[in-house]
Amino acid sequence: SPASIPHPPGRIPILGDVRNSSPRRPIQDVMRFGKQLGPIFERKIFGRRIVFVSGADMVAELSDEARFAKYLSPAVARLRQIGGDGLFTAYNDEPNWRKAHNLLRPAFTQAAMRSYHQIMVDVARELVADWDTRTTVDVSADMTKLTLETIGRTGFSHPFDSFRRERLHPFVEAMVGALRHAQLRTFLSPPLVGELLWRRADKRNLDRIAFMNGVVDEVIRERREVGHTGPDDLLELMMRAARDDDPDRIDDVNIRHQVLTFLVAGHETTSGALSFAFYYLSQHPEILAKAQAEVDEVWGPDTGADPSFEQIAKLRHVRRVLDEALRMWPTAPIYGREAREDTTLVGRYPMRAGDGVLVSIPSLHRDPAWGPDADVFDPDRFLPARVKARPAHIYKPFGTGERACIGRQFALHEAVLVLGTILRRYDLEPDADYQLRVQERLTVMPDGFRLNLRRRRRS
Ligand code: HEM
Repeated sequence: SPASIPHPPGRIPILGDVRNSSPRRPIQDVMRFGKQLGPIFERKIFGRRIVFVSGADMVAELSDEARFAKYLSPAVARLRQIGGDGLFTAYNDEPNWRKAHNLLRPAFTQAAMRSYHQIMVDVARELVADWDTRTTVDVSADMTKLTLETIGRTGFSHPFDSFRRERLHPFVEAMVGALRHAQLRTFLSPPLVGELLWRRADKRNLDRIAFMNGVVDEVIRERREVGHTGPDDLLELMMRAARDDDPDRIDDVNIRHQVLTFLVAGHETTSGALSFAFYYLSQHPEILAKAQAEVDEVWGPDTGADPSFEQIAKLRHVRRVLDEALRMWPTAPIYGREAREDTTLVGRYPMRAGDGVLVSIPSLHRDPAWGPDADVFDPDRFLPARVKARPAHIYKPFGTGERACIGRQFALHEAVLVLGTILRRYDLEPDADYQLRVQERLTVMPDGFRLNLRRRRRS
């Protein structure tokens, strides 16, 4: 028989489940409600019902591509204002998804990663040149500079000159504003007459989107004028398909959506992942020391030589630090799944074809199947034997199935490279009184986290 789905206490007519919740921290609300209410619960916000799921058994079923597919959460649907039918925000039945997926897949092979390696090394060097002049750094801001620079140069051969600017590139400011607007618009939508109240904020948001589009148009214009040499990048794959009348070619409007999608998806989440990894390393001196010892052993001491492509994946412990940081704080914390046909989830929760649920990844990553210490940062969870001993579908930082993250290997290569580079060179100390605060803008990011750096002495 169908089971009822719990909801937070204190439901209010019309407004719904808005008590004890903050539109500025919806993910952390969902994590808290999940703890109180269990592996499935619903929230009604202004008449719209949203079901959140985090039970390992349920997520395992939702990973069955024969029964379920990607579902656009209300917040992601709002991002179509920015990404249109680009890869991230496309509905499953939109033809441009398959075309762009086919066109761009070659840019994410192992061979492609090899061709990006030197650019990633160069960007990491720019970070180091900057950090060498400082004793205290704003970690999230600098990781954002680094990851924006990396996707700009690898994907579009377009430098953003991030390390020559005191502040973040205005593209980032516009993007963060737009993500935050989509979040507030989803969780703080005053009913009916309230639409009027949004007018000014919506107008400002359109200005942000226009600004981002301007940046994208400049990237495309530059390519048309200057042309392209060197290995294929994302933009070249798309523009060549258009020139060659490839059956998978996409039009100018869609190219623009893809460029914008990659500029956003290609840097914001990796920046957060690196920032959380540095946070946890700074809190766990013994794990930090072990990671530094691994870098010294595998890469050798910091003589100024660049790590090779092969040397990145050899940092197994550093990689586990990153995996575990993404367990604690998966930086794209929600993905949606919808039923392809009428079905019943784990034999108890009926779903009609097209009904969607949202997977709360941070809650899944703390499911009891992780053991009693799921709140503790422990990279050794990702030792091969322990991974094998766990249920299959309880770790999903990159989503699932055909619509899972296309940039996963890209992000992992970049992030391990940067962690290795920094660990080899500096000792990291947090401000003694820093308490982790997590800032939300659909993605999650440590807020106000600074590190004190000291050059390591060569032994
Ligand atoms: C999709 C996470 C890095 C490009 C996704 C999804 C997740 C995710 C969870 C699935 C969303 C859904 O099902 O609705 C992450 C995390 C990253 C990361 C945690 C870093 C640690 C990247 C990078 C790129 C990228 C570096 C590009 C270079 C994309 C794109 C999609 C996607 C284009 C849409 C794929 C499709 O639907 O065809 N990502 N991502 N991501 N990601 Fe990533």
